[in-house]
Amino acid sequence: MTKGLILSGGKGTRLRPLTYTSAKQLVPVANKPVLFYGIEALAEAGITEIGIVVGDTAAEIRQAVGDGSRWGVRVTYIEQDAPRGLAHAVLISEAFLGRAPFVMYLGDNLLNKGIAPFVREFERERPAAQILLARVPDPQMFGVAELEDGRVVRLVEKPTAPKSDLALVGVYLFGPDIFDAVKRIKPSFRDELEITDAIQDLIDRGLEVRPHIVDGWWKDTGKLEDMLEANRLILDTLVRRIDGQVDDASRIEGKVVVEAGAVVEHSVIRGPVIIGAGARIVHAYVGPFTAIMNDVEIRGSEVEHSIILEGSSVCDLENRVVDSLIGKNVRISRVNLKPSAYRFMLGDNSEVGIRW
Ligand code: DAU
Repeated sequence: MTKGLILSGGKGTRLRPLTYTSAKQLVPVANKPVLFYGIEALAEAGITEIGIVVGDTAAEIRQAVGDGSRWGVRVTYIEQDAPRGLAHAVLISEAFLGRAPFVMYLGDNLLNKGIAPFVREFERERPAAQILLARVPDPQMFGVAELEDGRVVRLVEKPTAPKSDLALVGVYLFGPDIFDAVKRIKPSFRDELEITDAIQDLIDRGLEVRPHIVDGWWKDTGKLEDMLEANRLILDTLVRRIDGQVDDASRIEGKVVVEAGAVVEHSVIRGPVIIGAGARIVHAYVGPFTAIMNDVEIRGSEVEHSIILEGSSVCDLENRVVDSLIGKNVRISRVNLKPSAYRFMLGDNSEVGIRW
């Protein structure tokens, strides 16, 4: 039976400051942690044995995922001492994986069409590896594949001069030959054992590496813009459901989910929007493509195209908040200060944009 290996260690430098305190794979897209979409994709492809590679944020990931029974799968946690690379994660998972074919799924990747057909193709054809590719405008940010007559001839990690626009998507299928490869390669320019180099090693040994171009969209949610875009794409698929309390003075338009226990008063919600349990939206406007997590308060303010995490509040702001990712328990409010001034208490690497 094909097994699953989800990589959920690593650093998350591009989503700082949020990822100073929490795992990047747990940042929610449409109010659900990115990692959960990956677990669902594996479960849906019939994979029930899943190893999750964890690093510094192990405790948080274990707490959120548990034993996997919620998805009908069995989760085994595999501790990685430091983010030494994707191939290193494979290396330390050999005992868990054994000789079974496996899907390696990067915990911050999101694919809308799932992976079931991709897994079936691999099980039918049994190549040494199968990779998933997508055309991107900025290939230098990814692993890049060169194809000749439909065959993969070369793979390069983050090339400065990419030879194609085909990026490696963070979902790979491997047979047991990959273990020899990850043992043979040397650390890269960024001092990591690269899975890209390990797959190149398979190619160099004449083993079959099958490419498969992704249909539907794919997002690596490692950066703010990608996170917001993923949020947009998933919110767009919402089915309207109003389980919370909405008063008569409020208007709800389009694809909106208001979870049970949320309260909307004197407000306009224009979907696609999701509002989590315990949130309070009062005298406010919540515009398209906004995900509001549990226990958030929006009062006397307007928010659009943003993600706001648990327990935060946005109160009495003069201008609309847009394109924002706001962490947990953040408070943004208008204060009556003299002299007229801004007042901040921001963590390291925070970003604030003020209209001028
Ligand atoms: O998203 C696709 C890209 O993912 C591919 O195009 C690249 O070829 C591939 O190397 C990878 O690039 P990134 O630089 O985006 O990988 P990142 O360091 O963000 O790690 C991906 C996931 O794996 C993330 O959830 C963290 C986890 N991870 C990463 C490393 C380096 C681990 O669990 N352990 C590790 O040692």
